[in-house]
Amino acid sequence: MKRRGFPAGIGWTIFFSISTIAGAAATGDGPSTALKALAKECGILIGSAVDYSALVREPIYGDTLSREFSVLTPENEMKWARIHPQQFQYNFSQPDAMMAFAASNDLLVHGHTLVWHRQVPEWLSAGTFTREEMINILRSHIYTVAGRYRGRHLVAWDVVNEAVESDGTLRKTLWLDRIGPDYIDLAFRFASEADRNAKLIYNDFSYEPIGTKSTGVYNLVSGMLARGIPVHGVGFQMHLTTSGIDVSSFAQNMRRFADLGLEIYITEMDVRSRLPATPSQLATQAKIYRDVLDACLGQPACKAFQTWGFTDAHSWIPQFFQGFRAALLFDKNYQPKSAYEALSQRLRECPRPVPPGDSHVR
Ligand code: XIL
Repeated sequence: MKRRGFPAGIGWTIFFSISTIAGAAATGDGPSTALKALAKECGILIGSAVDYSALVREPIYGDTLSREFSVLTPENEMKWARIHPQQFQYNFSQPDAMMAFAASNDLLVHGHTLVWHRQVPEWLSAGTFTREEMINILRSHIYTVAGRYRGRHLVAWDVVNEAVESDGTLRKTLWLDRIGPDYIDLAFRFASEADRNAKLIYNDFSYEPIGTKSTGVYNLVSGMLARGIPVHGVGFQMHLTTSGIDVSSFAQNMRRFADLGLEIYITEMDVRSRLPATPSQLATQAKIYRDVLDACLGQPACKAFQTWGFTDAHSWIPQFFQGFRAALLFDKNYQPKSAYEALSQRLRECPRPVPPGDSHVR
């Protein structure tokens, strides 16, 4: 299967190759064995975060992405510092190119992220704005960004990212500080005004099992629902180590969010291994990927299984977690790892029926 490149007019000359990756691609006449085809039979989306420069520079990166995944998340390109570097200046070139790549390769897009306390531009973090001014800035950012990509195969937004502390209270961020706790409600209202169709998600890390943090998130979103705030789902980032997680507690936790009527997204999964990544560590990693996917497939509200990158050649792990590496499904040479095989195998154990006329969501 060959992907299509950036549409003409975007301004790059890129030569695309047909990659031949052992054991992964569907090349013959039979049904596709790529993850996205298998995931479709299971009624879920399978996705990955995408790094713009890898997409532009390495043909095999885009080939693998478009062959295996049904949804992409821009890893950094829609964050404030990148898309809104000056108060009156937006930079849409990279996210636009990613949207165009997704459109021409039949991928959906999961937007990330409209409100976060990291990767914010200096004009915002160092600026002195009143509460009213901050609310206007937030509204105008969300209208501009979410409004631009509305209806263009962007199916979900991480509206607010990482707003809850490990003790379950609201994180002390510039948003909380300058607007107050209602910044979260406001962000979801603005996002819904800007894009009526995208699923609006609250996304966070380390609240997979039942515990203090997950109860904090639960209280946050159930309060929002009680106030009529348009929140449609929760995202579990799922940045794990080879110690794994308590999957039955995760399943129980998903159930209580699902009982609120919320959708569930696994948004940023990776499983970092301590160096050197031994065969036994990679086998453990594969099992963790499989167990989490299994839990997602066991919960009808779980709509998507997304990883934070797909090749160990491009991953945030080595830079952010010293002594850890090899967290993803393909190795540095784009060869599928045991983790890939484990997901593939589990997906083959579907199919679950997909409602007629609904190609990607159960
Ligand atoms: C990370 C990116 O992967 C890095 O390239 C960047 O330098 C820092 O941010 N949770 C999130 C993501 O929601 O946005 C973060 O992405 C990883 C943790």
